[in-house]
Amino acid sequence: MTEIFASAPGKFVILGEHAVVYGKPAIALAINRRFHLSVKRDDDFKINNEIVDIRSSPHLRYISSNNDMLPVSVHMDSKIPTGSGLGSSAALSVAFSAAMRALNGKSLDESEIAKEAFEAEYFTQGRGSPMDTSASVHGHGIALNVQNDAADTLWNITKNEHSWDVSRIDVPAMTFVIGYTGTRAATGPLVEKVRKYKDGNRFASDIVDEIGQITLEGMEALKANDVVRLGDLMTKDHKLLSILGVSTNELNKLVNASLPYSYGAKLTGSGGGGSMVVLTDRPEQVCEVMRSHGGFPFVVKTGVEGVKVSSIN
Ligand code: MEV
Repeated sequence: MTEIFASAPGKFVILGEHAVVYGKPAIALAINRRFHLSVKRDDDFKINNEIVDIRSSPHLRYISSNNDMLPVSVHMDSKIPTGSGLGSSAALSVAFSAAMRALNGKSLDESEIAKEAFEAEYFTQGRGSPMDTSASVHGHGIALNVQNDAADTLWNITKNEHSWDVSRIDVPAMTFVIGYTGTRAATGPLVEKVRKYKDGNRFASDIVDEIGQITLEGMEALKANDVVRLGDLMTKDHKLLSILGVSTNELNKLVNASLPYSYGAKLTGSGGGGSMVVLTDRPEQVCEVMRSHGGFPFVVKTGVEGVKVSSIN
């Protein structure tokens, strides 16, 4: 019986999270931590050999219902901590979408997987942008809603009143350290918190605009390989995200502790716990100082492949 294997990477956000939900620019990089899974037809839906009610897993339900809803047995193994802000949920949707499409003989075009995985995430969280799913599908580095060469355009995704042009970007060799706080945070409620703040407050919507502006400056810094400027913009972005109410004491502690050894540092992903990221050329010192402040650091490798699929009969 055919068994399909798929894997997809996690990601971190250099600049632009939360603001991207409102169509502002953002930049994200895929990392060398992946979600692996396999699927094969079965008599019941199973996850890691246990019969499950597919309705309790909205991502899987959405993608299965797009693929005839025939029961499958899924084996999962993730190296991306859940709720860490590193895109574990998006990587699951991307890998499952690719595997189910392969099982059903559908197109494995990256843009089709990106759209289906985004819709599955949106269905699950009721909100959000296609940043995490697009980064996981394409791998390497992506930018949303920045001016770029037409040749770099990957796909466009629209949802309700927002539209995102997703493009590939060249990323110079840089060293990033991720610091996981150890506290899980669900994306949906944090996105909702920012939406409420922004809707009721002109000041908050100016902050969202400012994050968009900083991200465009960050694109210029990336193109010029200017780590000093990029780091400075990341730290500024952290301050703006803190004003939006998505940072925590733990995140601020890790950011402040890392700054003397880095070009810049910020929370990454939805915040509320999860992870932060540091741009540095002193990764050992950053890891040490993070550990001494209660964080779980790891040096991240970027430039990794996006979704991968293979099968055995
Ligand atoms: C989460 O990784 C990024 C957010 O901007 C949400 C989203 O874009 O869907 C907070």
